[in-house]
Amino acid sequence: MSKFTPILPGKTIGLLGGGQLGRMLAMEGKRMGYRVVCLDPTPESPCGQVCDEQIIGSFEDLDSARKLAEQSDVLIYETENINAQVVAELEKEHWVPQSSQILSYFQDRREEKTRLHEAGFPVVPHRIAEKAEEIPAFIEEIGCPCILKTAFGGYDGKGQWVIRQKEQWEKIREELKAGPWVLEKRVELTTELSVIVARTPDGRKRSFPAAENIHQHQILRASIVPPRIDPTIVAEAQDIAERITEHFQVVGLLAVEFFLVGKTLYVNEMAPRPHNSGHYTWEACYTSQFEQLIRAVCGLPLGPVDLSFPVVMINILGEDYEGLEKLIPHLPEEVKIHIYGKKEMAWRRKVGHLTIKTDKPEQVLSLLEEKLGWDSLK
Ligand SMILES: Nc1ncnc2c1ncn2[C@@H]1O[C@H](COP(=O)(O)OP(=O)(O)OP(=O)(O)O)[C@@H](O)[C@H]1O
Ligand SMILES: [Mg+2]
Repeated sequence: MSKFTPILPGKTIGLLGGGQLGRMLAMEGKRMGYRVVCLDPTPESPCGQVCDEQIIGSFEDLDSARKLAEQSDVLIYETENINAQVVAELEKEHWVPQSSQILSYFQDRREEKTRLHEAGFPVVPHRIAEKAEEIPAFIEEIGCPCILKTAFGGYDGKGQWVIRQKEQWEKIREELKAGPWVLEKRVELTTELSVIVARTPDGRKRSFPAAENIHQHQILRASIVPPRIDPTIVAEAQDIAERITEHFQVVGLLAVEFFLVGKTLYVNEMAPRPHNSGHYTWEACYTSQFEQLIRAVCGLPLGPVDLSFPVVMINILGEDYEGLEKLIPHLPEEVKIHIYGKKEMAWRRKVGHLTIKTDKPEQVLSLLEEKLGWDSLK
């Protein structure tokens, strides 16, 4: 990348995807003085509401993607649920630093798991099923409880089936659409962690402080920073995440999700983009994950990522919104509100988040349980 000239404010960032991650990227990009354009099929998408222009079009449609690319100096994808072949076409003529290859690895759970395993990174026992008929034998081999996950397109626990007894298979079989799938051992979680690493085209790296993550119904509910666990384990997660980023030569951001089982870390999955568990960086780090991604792909120095204060991030799902709305005027003064501008407050969809400066995360969680009637978060 020695010939790489920095992309300076005034130039155009093109975003493939107009969801909340795109919205926060656009807000940081605009602050820095960039022009920001996005492509998304939904008119007035969360990102479209705050960027300079939205192209309305499908991620499958090369013409729409080209319209975006032609006016962009750098292209960033904010979701893995886009077409890797479209991205491969774009990168022939345009600067797509995250690359279509990385996208194709990380949008396919089979690739992700196999490549991690082959490179010696710790993953839970699993099997890859190309056909549904293979699954019963794999359930026997892995043992119950296990989880069946579609290889493509799953998020927030969608496309996943927990199998507690092998007798459940017949019923699950009826629900299954097209494969392939990954069947993995369901481990007894002590907790979950994630680390987001930024890497530049010339190989400079910096990782954000790790987050402890609490999931409900397989959806991230809360992130707590710093994690309430042994710092040596946190340091180990940080080290693994940085080595994975280097191994795959990721450019931009890589979010690595971990399971902690006792004192053993396993890599769950990865995302080559900003991550929900890094939303806390907006307020609590000197440089947010969104700014860092822009800095990395525009050839600017990576910013400092020191944690300014301990913090809790809480996701707001569609079904929470009504209850939350009434509470807004009465929330503690430290609470920062992010609402994404989604047209529909749909059930189990992320519609916003709260960031709360606190060194007493348990108190915050209890308050939300009490005021919003949430299941226990501890
Ligand atoms: N093998 C497992 N053992 C125990 N818990 C698991 C396992 N796989 C998934 N889970 C639980 O379900 C959550 C979601 O799983 P996973 O990260 O695979 O799904 P996803 O749909 O890709 O989610 P997202 O994209 O929101 O991170 C995990 O964070 C964890 O809480
Ligand atoms: Mg996950």
